[in-house]
Amino acid sequence: MNFRLLLLLCLLTSFYSNLNAQEGKKISPYLFGLFFEDINYAADGGLYAEMVQNRSFEYSPSDTPEWHPLTSWSYVTQVFSYGKLDIETNNPINTNNPHYAVLNIEHIGTRATGPESDIPQNKGTPGVGIQNTGYDGMVVKAGETYNFTIFAKQLSNNPISIHVSLQDSNGKILGENNIEVNTKDWKKYTTTLTPSVNSDSSSLMLLATSKGKLAIDVVSLFPQNTFKNRKNGLRADLAQLLADMKPSFVRFPGGCLTHGEGVGNMYRWKNTVGPIEQRIEQKNLWGYHQTGGLGYFEYFQFCEDIGAIPLPVLPAAVSCQNSGGTWRVGGTGQQALPMEDMQDYIQDVLDLVEWANGPINSKWGSIRANAGHPEPFNLEFIGIGNEDKMTPEFEERFNMIVSAVKAKYPEISLIGTSGPFSDGEDFEKGWEIADVNNIPLVDEHYYKQPEWFLSNLDRYDSYDRKKPGVYLGEYASWGNKLKNAIAEAAYMTTLERNADIVKMASYAPLLAKKDHTQWTTDMIFFDNKTYCLTPNYHVQKMFSTNYGDIYYKNIIATGKDTTLSASCLKDSKTGDIILKMVNTSTEFKQMKVNLNKFKNLPLDAKQIVLTGNAEAENTLENPDTIKPIESKIEIGKSFTYQAPPTSLTVIRIKQKP
Ligand code: AHR
Repeated sequence: MNFRLLLLLCLLTSFYSNLNAQEGKKISPYLFGLFFEDINYAADGGLYAEMVQNRSFEYSPSDTPEWHPLTSWSYVTQVFSYGKLDIETNNPINTNNPHYAVLNIEHIGTRATGPESDIPQNKGTPGVGIQNTGYDGMVVKAGETYNFTIFAKQLSNNPISIHVSLQDSNGKILGENNIEVNTKDWKKYTTTLTPSVNSDSSSLMLLATSKGKLAIDVVSLFPQNTFKNRKNGLRADLAQLLADMKPSFVRFPGGCLTHGEGVGNMYRWKNTVGPIEQRIEQKNLWGYHQTGGLGYFEYFQFCEDIGAIPLPVLPAAVSCQNSGGTWRVGGTGQQALPMEDMQDYIQDVLDLVEWANGPINSKWGSIRANAGHPEPFNLEFIGIGNEDKMTPEFEERFNMIVSAVKAKYPEISLIGTSGPFSDGEDFEKGWEIADVNNIPLVDEHYYKQPEWFLSNLDRYDSYDRKKPGVYLGEYASWGNKLKNAIAEAAYMTTLERNADIVKMASYAPLLAKKDHTQWTTDMIFFDNKTYCLTPNYHVQKMFSTNYGDIYYKNIIATGKDTTLSASCLKDSKTGDIILKMVNTSTEFKQMKVNLNKFKNLPLDAKQIVLTGNAEAENTLENPDTIKPIESKIEIGKSFTYQAPPTSLTVIRIKQKP
């Protein structure tokens, strides 16, 4: 080839690549989503708005050694009444929910008058009952209504009256009502309670006020004000925080909770749909109990309510390798489902698709419809496995599940798994298995020091674009200080840069309850009353609510300064140009912005800045030490941005029509 022709070719190539650069790169439309796991009391006692703890008397020493069917309950007698409280299993509402409480009310006392009338035994309504303290005391608000429900039946011939009340820690009644148990078969009774004053440590008391014997189960109290007023719904304030992030997807139910502690503890989605009194409860591998009340129906409903794609992750028919106390060390505890159970298991996986997407006259579609959702849930993605140890047992079962789903539901995108670390044997093997199976996405997990994130900003630049895409399903830098969040922000600009191959990413874990936190680094801390948004939450939200679908390179010049990172996206729906600038140093730094390739720019734009002391963090007591500040910024075709120390800045520019 002669030199002139070569030059012409070079010029043409450079012209077309500039043109492409000018047009930007199409990226994943759903990069930033949420990871939800019932760890740290995130579901029961957390997002799930049920206020009664151990509502079905199913707690047991297998949850945690000191627990039993009456954990969180206490037996109460008032005004010289007496009787007996037992737990029985011989005639339950449903075999899935075997334990229930039996109250034998042998004597109802009468209030004494005269000299002894002041003693504690003489106080309150005469009766025999039980009292529940909820998850560390119930928080109730004056004037709000709470829905009380109970399943009960008479075991004696006479109907039995029950006085239902919310009480404060001094026994003062805050709200009350009565029900009468009047059948010999299990029946659901409902009433409401409306407390007259606020209380942070109330309890629910059920007091049988007439003699006789009765059985009770599934004692439940929900605020009427749940998220979107859903029955069996979610705590409105916490769910709203998640909705505010506008996540493109929600992954559930875990994490390690998915593959469970031993095969008997794997999360089986079918146990978590249908009426709550028929769901199968079980040990939570994080050392407490799962009611399954926040189950697959509620997860899918929540996704729909917030406009997020549902991303269920199912066990690959093997349990967590850390089962049996070998947490992250060696991984010798993995158990595999016996081969003779695999066909049933695979059928469960296939049935999930029918349950979510099938017509209402299909077997599983009708179960969804009967639960109140005749329209399909539009399930598109299913994860198979959670950071499993890559054993031959795993591989065989994973391959069986994958071929069955591909054969029956080729439209479903499967997500493989690659062990618990950013590299190493399981990581390599997980990728290899996914690649061989032509799986569209592989789930990567890593928790690292902030320095690791800053030294790996080029991780995905060299990923092979012909291989499966990445779902970065769990990641976080170890800590909730501003410096951790800013290191994550720097990394997230590189996820955007590589969002042609990194299709999804979710920070983990999401929620952590005060005094029940098992994982030190989490996105939102909460107690029964309030919450604290970490700097990491603010970063995630700033990215997910300011996302686009086209990536432009060379818009923000950071020089060779490795403490600076930046990205530029366009949201083609709104036409907005979105700049993100991250300064991980503790000094002011300059970045040069060149917007020449964009037309019709206004003179100013919205700016959101998250900055502060690198070591600062938010707490429940001081939740606003670090928070984003919104203002206006003047912009030009090109301008220099002064990035504050330890900061993330988002500039959102509305192009003029
Ligand atoms: O996010 C906490 C835990 O970290 C998850 O359950 C597990 O998948 C990972 O090891």
